[in-house]
Amino acid sequence: MNETNEKFEPEIVAFCCHYCAYGAADLAGSMRLNYPANVKIVKLPCTGKVDILYLLKAFEDGADGVYVAGCLEGNCHFTDGNIKAKRRVARAKKLLDEIGLDGTRLEMYNMSASMGPRFAEVAREMTEKIKALGPSPLRKNTTLAI
Ligand code: FES
Repeated sequence: MNETNEKFEPEIVAFCCHYCAYGAADLAGSMRLNYPANVKIVKLPCTGKVDILYLLKAFEDGADGVYVAGCLEGNCHFTDGNIKAKRRVARAKKLLDEIGLDGTRLEMYNMSASMGPRFAEVAREMTEKIKALGPSPLRKNTTLAI
């Protein structure tokens, strides 16, 4: 049975930095801004902690989309963690393209803790984009040939 994109509810993992994106998510909640429940937040001390393996593992575990949300460039509390994360996301996107998973399922965003509306907007944006792409091929295949 094929799942149609209208009925499809994607699983999206958002790796959020404690200082900015997580603060923005918190603010979005305080402002009672609606954003899709499809987005599951993983809080990190800084996006510089994101390893390519975490990103790939999220897909392997069935995520249809993944994004990393860190502080605005120049405002990382650990100097350049968000710049390192940006480079890792770019590399992981290429790997996803190479294995046929579509690198656009992975994105990087930057925001400050005061950008609650932006957090909600990004969550909606990613959810709509992944809905349009459909389920991850890894989600359909429960047995991976390695
Ligand atoms: Fe937020 Fe580094 S502390 S990205």
